[in-house]
Amino acid sequence: MATLKVTDRAGHERAIESEGGVSVMEIIRDNGFDELLALCGGCCSCATCHVYVDEEFAAKLPSRSEDENDLLDSSDHKTDRSRLSCQIAFTAALDGLKVTLAPED
Ligand code: FES
Repeated sequence: MATLKVTDRAGHERAIESEGGVSVMEIIRDNGFDELLALCGGCCSCATCHVYVDEEFAAKLPSRSEDENDLLDSSDHKTDRSRLSCQIAFTAALDGLKVTLAPED
């Protein structure tokens, strides 16, 4: 089991245990964070799963794909820490990963 720490838009943090094998988006969505719309279901075509990744984990993640980067460009809230959570596979190596839901566009 590995832990994902999620901070919602109101600033509340919750730790979620996961066995991995799913995306960060799926973990967030399936644990009652209704703010994360994930409208395209993880196809990298909506950008409604936008999160900010904690700085200490940024280097552990594979870089953004061109598609992910292009979609994030459509957000008014893109920062250096922006990722589409559906594009991050959650594994034991990411135990303790902290993400914050980005504001809605
Ligand atoms: S769920 Fe649509 S881009 Fe991630």
